[in-house]
Amino acid sequence: MKKNILRAKLIQIFSKYQLSKKHSEICADYLIKAELIEAKSHGLIRLKMYCDRIKKRLINPRPKIKIKKLTSSISHIDADNSIGFVSAQTAINQAIKNAKKTGIGLVAVKKSGHYGLSSFYADQAVKKNLIVFCFTNAPPALAPHGAKKSLFGTNPICFGVPTGKVPFILDTSTSIINRGKIRRAHKLGEKIPYGVALNKSGKITTNAKEALLGSQLPIASFKGSGLAWMVDILSGVLTGSSHGGKTKDPFDDFTGPQNVGHLFITIDPKVFVGLNFIKEIKKNIKIVKKLPKAKGFSSILYPGERKNKVYKKNLNKDISIPSKILKEMDELNAI
Ligand SMILES: NC(=O)c1ccc[n+]([C@@H]2O[C@H](COP(=O)([O-])OP(=O)(O)OC[C@H]3O[C@@H](n4cnc5c(N)ncnc54)[C@H](O)[C@@H]3O)[C@@H](O)[C@H]2O)c1
Repeated sequence: MKKNILRAKLIQIFSKYQLSKKHSEICADYLIKAELIEAKSHGLIRLKMYCDRIKKRLINPRPKIKIKKLTSSISHIDADNSIGFVSAQTAINQAIKNAKKTGIGLVAVKKSGHYGLSSFYADQAVKKNLIVFCFTNAPPALAPHGAKKSLFGTNPICFGVPTGKVPFILDTSTSIINRGKIRRAHKLGEKIPYGVALNKSGKITTNAKEALLGSQLPIASFKGSGLAWMVDILSGVLTGSSHGGKTKDPFDDFTGPQNVGHLFITIDPKVFVGLNFIKEIKKNIKIVKKLPKAKGFSSILYPGERKNKVYKKNLNKDISIPSKILKEMDELNAI
């Protein structure tokens, strides 16, 4: 489908579900961006889930988002159960503003929902020449190291740095693959890769449904489990949001709003070394890229480089949408 037609359709759907024009545009643009960078796990596959939650009033379509200024650097946002895209957009705008003013911005968000890819927000801070960290917690998917039951989310860690060229953006789940990839495989009847999830009895499975009922494996064993825990503390405990496995699953749990928490940290890289920062980061990347290549590698990429290429390659192409998702979109648009 042509990008402009898809955008118009998505805006129409979100507007029918009572989001304001501005909020509908934000949501449409993020869903399209996920498709363009081929992160389909966070694209159109989630549209019905967002609409279902709005219909049940678990996402507030007309939130009154409150930004409490604690200092010139620190803000605390009550997102009033807004759709996560809108709360996170409000927060990154504030974090950028704070860092531009004082050198550092720290913005916590409570009462939010699933916000898509952390790189959506990191990208914007990096484009304003800031270093950025984004954290969000998510519903239970990983068993803490030594536990039999899932409790931590796939809690992503995102770190972005301006490089003077393509931004360096490391944006990774603390699970081996993100949960959306398993959700999408389940929806489209596909298998998941071997070794990323266990079934309910603790055996490795490639069946998406079994994986959703079982648990996903963390990156690097107990280290990934520790990082997922860290993100739960930063995004959940620190911000005043749900934590410790209480964040509700947006697909399966309709007993209340998700109450996801996010934390954004923005840093002006000039604070310590002035304009030298860009000179030194370029040098740093050059050193790494010049290393002799391991077997099978013709180049060394830094995080974010490949996704940037994919985005540019797809920018003017039509977006391919599986028939099952097209049908869902038509049904959502028919209300
Ligand atoms: N909102 C939520 O609740 C939530 C939860 C979990 C994950 N997510 C999102 O899902 C995405 C992560 O999914 P994933 O863990 O499957 O990620 P992934 O494996 O696709 O990528 C992880 C990171 O590795 C980098 N990378 C990939 N190939 C590389 C290469 N060849 N060389 C160097 N770097 C490379 C990527 O740039 C990226 O920064 C993130 O965007 C994250 O924000 C969101």
